[in-house]
Amino acid sequence: MKLSGQVAIVTGAGRNIGEEVSKLLSSEGASIAVVDLDKGRADAVVADIVAAGGKAKAFICDVAKEADIEATVTGVVEAFGRLDILVNNVAISDNKHMLDITTEEWNRTIAITLTAPFLFGKHAAKAMIKADNGGKIVNVSSTSGYYGRNRAVAYTAAKGGVVNLTRSMAIQLAPHNIRVNSVVPNKIGSPVGKAEFDPTRPVVNLRKRPGIPIDLARAILFLVSDDSDFIVGTDLFVDGGCSALMPGNE
Ligand SMILES: NC(=O)c1ccc[n+]([C@@H]2O[C@H](COP(=O)([O-])OP(=O)(O)OC[C@H]3O[C@@H](n4cnc5c(N)ncnc54)[C@H](O)[C@@H]3O)[C@@H](O)[C@H]2O)c1
Repeated sequence: MKLSGQVAIVTGAGRNIGEEVSKLLSSEGASIAVVDLDKGRADAVVADIVAAGGKAKAFICDVAKEADIEATVTGVVEAFGRLDILVNNVAISDNKHMLDITTEEWNRTIAITLTAPFLFGKHAAKAMIKADNGGKIVNVSSTSGYYGRNRAVAYTAAKGGVVNLTRSMAIQLAPHNIRVNSVVPNKIGSPVGKAEFDPTRPVVNLRKRPGIPIDLARAILFLVSDDSDFIVGTDLFVDGGCSALMPGNE
């Protein structure tokens, strides 16, 4: 097992990608802090992990609130005795045109999608530095952080921010033996903010199929394991090759 004895926080772990990441890291020996705003979802993921023989605990946290984030990190260290891994997975999308989005909607999307990964990274890194045992952080970005979109504006700005936040975090935390990287998915399972897979969602990539949560979970496992020990501050595209395509020339 690649993560025996380690402790991982996964944010937005109540369904879809975060759920799959939690289960995969657990199957490799990590204890999982299942962080979500939705208690029912978090409890269900914990129950599945425990039923499969793993260790997990639910932490109900609104990542828009720094006090919740700080309390969660403290609670995880109290419950499990250490913290080795943070997967900053949570995000919401505005799904808005810039002429229609309200300032409130903009601020909430930025708070959850960009500021929360920063704040979770800050408080988790402080705990990791205190323990003097190193650590690994993976920020979940998106192809929406590289390209503009007609149907979202705050989300694309936030995800672009996550990509460059990752580089500064990687530089600033490297002296503490904390490796920071990001993953850049495109169309994995159900759309952000939705529970159900939509088979009619158009998918253009080189694999000719939609991504599924385990595709991204495997990439994240790689980045938090020693298999990626020499990989720092990078963005790993997990997009079926869609970013390699020039529009109109597929
Ligand atoms: N699904 C995709 O096709 C896709 C594509 C590119 C990038 N991504 C990225 O992958 C990550 C996961 O996406 P997903 O589709 O699995 O998301 P999702 O919407 O299915 O799940 C998000 C989870 O976060 C929780 N959550 C929402 N707001 C919260 C808050 N304030 N505090 C705590 N928890 C909160 C929700 O309860 C939910 O369980 C996101 O960062 C997303 O941007 C997803």
